[in-house]
Amino acid sequence: SFSRPQLHSNNNSSSSFGIAFDIDGVIIRGETPIGNSPQALKRLYDDSGNLKIPYLFLTNGGGVPESQRAADLSSLLGVNILTSQVLQGHTPFKNLADRFQNALVLAVGKGEPATVMSEYGFKNVMSIDEYASYFDNIDPLSHYKHWTCKKEFAKNNTSKEKALTESVKAAFIVSDPVDWSRDIQVLCDILRYGGIPQRETRPQPPVYFASDDLEYQAAYPLNRLGMGAFRIALESIFNRISDSSLVYTSFGKPNPFVFKNAEAVLKQLLMSTHYGDNVVNNGESGCQTFKTLYMIGDNPSVDIKGAQQAGHPWFSILTRTGVFKGMQQNDREFPADLVVDTVEDAIDYILKREC
Ligand code: G3P
Ligand code: MG
Repeated sequence: SFSRPQLHSNNNSSSSFGIAFDIDGVIIRGETPIGNSPQALKRLYDDSGNLKIPYLFLTNGGGVPESQRAADLSSLLGVNILTSQVLQGHTPFKNLADRFQNALVLAVGKGEPATVMSEYGFKNVMSIDEYASYFDNIDPLSHYKHWTCKKEFAKNNTSKEKALTESVKAAFIVSDPVDWSRDIQVLCDILRYGGIPQRETRPQPPVYFASDDLEYQAAYPLNRLGMGAFRIALESIFNRISDSSLVYTSFGKPNPFVFKNAEAVLKQLLMSTHYGDNVVNNGESGCQTFKTLYMIGDNPSVDIKGAQQAGHPWFSILTRTGVFKGMQQNDREFPADLVVDTVEDAIDYILKREC
């Protein structure tokens, strides 16, 4: 266990720098740290474990609440990571909780998607696993699926009644879907009929994706299909069986608002320094600006494109440990400001440049 860190800034100018780390393909592959990430991150703390440099994780992945992800990353990487330092693909979903009030919404993906949504304030949310369990024969292939970790549900009668009678008002793809064939089937039912077996189609309820990554770097040496690939599969099928085209919203990098939000969170981290307190006391809180914000990523069309679109003060660093495998000097379509082998090299560069 760690003590709660304080952020100590030794920077007395009104401008400063911060860092956003991508996770998959930069910090870890699968469950394994890569590129000397634990040692690299340690350099952002002083000898007493106090944070010296404002940084956060800006990942398109997810599936567990930010508090859980912070705890998991802390034990994996050996530094104390705060909940506020974790921005996941689905983090902006919390801004939609008020819009759906008590309406039934579906949460899709690996991990604990319904827990994530409940923590964001959604009051009537059900995971697609639980939802599908209430409908006999909804998946004609289920008998052939011998999952090694199948979730059993208590089969709550109230929840069953709700699933069978209430139409689903929105679907949230929180993390990478596990059972594509069932999930595409059930989502098509919901998007066409609100989930209630009937002949009349209904207007399509909104569907939100936490990100739109076509591919990402997991433990396997080749890139793996991500949420964007699932979106294409769902969209292609829906557009063939439905009269209208799928209407959807994708969050995550490379959307500029993700980088704007990261900047705001980094500013808050900086303001929690002793220097930040002084700035507030002097009534000059609005003056605090970053000279440079570094985005360290592995995916040119997501991390680097996003940082480029976000513009000043973002500076993009591409590693060779993930989607970009780096035979060439730089990515042709979305060239980064700097290409390095690992996250450790990136930190080396930043600290030499800034300190
Ligand atoms: O599923 C995770 C993947 O889409 C990307 O994660 O950390 O590389 O943004 P990250
Ligand atoms: Mg990545």
